[in-house]
Amino acid sequence: MSERTCLAIVLAAGEGTRMRSARPKVLHQIAGQPMLAHVLAAVRQAGGSAVAVVVGPDADAVSAEASRSEPRAELFVQRERLGTAHAVLTAVDALARGADDVLVIFGDTPLIRPQTLLRMREALANGAAIAVLGFRPKDPTGYGRLVLAGDDLVAIREELDATAAERAIDLCNGGLMAFAGSTAMSIIKQIGNDNRKREFYLTDAVAIARTMKLKAVVIETEEDDVRGINTKVQLAEAEAALQQRLRKTAMDAGVTLVAPDTVFLAADTTFGRDVVIEPYVVFGPGVTVEDNAVIRSFSHLDHAHVGKGALVGPYARLRPGAKLGADVHIGNFVEVKESVIEDGAKANHLAYIGDARLGAGSNFGAGAIVCNYDGAAKHRTDIGKGAFIGSNAALVAPVSIGDGAYVATGSVITQNVPADGLAIARERQVVKDGGASRIRAIKAAAKAKKGAAE
Ligand code: UD1
Ligand code: CA
Repeated sequence: MSERTCLAIVLAAGEGTRMRSARPKVLHQIAGQPMLAHVLAAVRQAGGSAVAVVVGPDADAVSAEASRSEPRAELFVQRERLGTAHAVLTAVDALARGADDVLVIFGDTPLIRPQTLLRMREALANGAAIAVLGFRPKDPTGYGRLVLAGDDLVAIREELDATAAERAIDLCNGGLMAFAGSTAMSIIKQIGNDNRKREFYLTDAVAIARTMKLKAVVIETEEDDVRGINTKVQLAEAEAALQQRLRKTAMDAGVTLVAPDTVFLAADTTFGRDVVIEPYVVFGPGVTVEDNAVIRSFSHLDHAHVGKGALVGPYARLRPGAKLGADVHIGNFVEVKESVIEDGAKANHLAYIGDARLGAGSNFGAGAIVCNYDGAAKHRTDIGKGAFIGSNAALVAPVSIGDGAYVATGSVITQNVPADGLAIARERQVVKDGGASRIRAIKAAAKAKKGAAE
């Protein structure tokens, strides 16, 4: 299989009006990444050696996402939406370059698995000119029906054009098709638009292949693989289905999910061994969690790294660029952004750490914060190894605290503190003996005077 080249043509010119959104359909996200990125990842894993993406007019955002997630992708604009075969021929230049296998995939079918694409390619390697992905939906309404004669696929009939007998067929077209590169172009070029919708249907390729004495077969798969997204409800259903898959994959790899249904993962979340995730944790994209780390309940992580044996949460927020070393503790109501927290450092309660470094073994006290933003620009805070930041300290960036230095509780630190220095930056406390009684007497007199006046 590996020596066969493969061109994947991804159709993404749909407008997606039923999403009721200004955002193009294929850019809606599931598990933290756009649908289009899921499809392109599946193509990559299925050995796609060339990729063509067909986009609609005014689809700069779709093109940008295609190039971001698959830099090799060649973009083609379909100016008029005249049907799936017309969309494929928009990428005629890529098709003309030739490939052993040609996969045609929809950009709004994000749950397609690479192993399913590989099964389709295998059918081509075994001599089929066309392999169609079939499935048996609970409700076949709206799908093209697969007309079989024995094991051979004879035709695909779009529902609008089907006879009553054809409509009774429960094996449906998932929409994804694979073509032997040697005959793909000659088949697709023969497709006309003689049907109820006056569209050029890629599905007509099957009947044409028959007239050319070429073999077409069905590869049957489960409904999730071909789940098309047209509405926000279907988007949510796909999200749920993908979350189930991701949770299972994580648990199969040895992650403990105490209550799997309450943990939300991103497609790219990466776990080491013996990681424990407590209930109600949300992972945005770009998170890596190393061996033996524990993520406690109600934590939210996004583009963050959690080192070996680290303890995060409950109620922790790791924002983009949070990099936690080994055995770090980030406790309740602590927010970390764009900061390196070195091995063994701790911030256990109510703190904000942004644009900073916490040196190894340092301690960032309850309620302490960095003041990293002055209203115009962000500035950095650097805290050395083994430093101690007292509770409720405010570190006004840019500022650095040396190794082993000590910042007194409640200090507002505006100047650098050298290594091993002790910084106290707060009003000195004043105590007046008997002062409490004097205050009470003054208040009582004021009250009596007010009473007399009334
Ligand atoms: C298609 C199949 C149908 C199958 C169903 C599965 C055809 C003719 N029919 O029907 O047999 O059961 O999928 O979901 O293929 N697109 C373009 N340009 C176009 C037309 C479509 O890019 O001119 C893209 C759409 O954005 C979409 C995909 O191709 O991603 C499929 O088109 P759509 O109109 O949704 O086809 P269906 O009617 O769903
Ligand atoms: Ca569709």
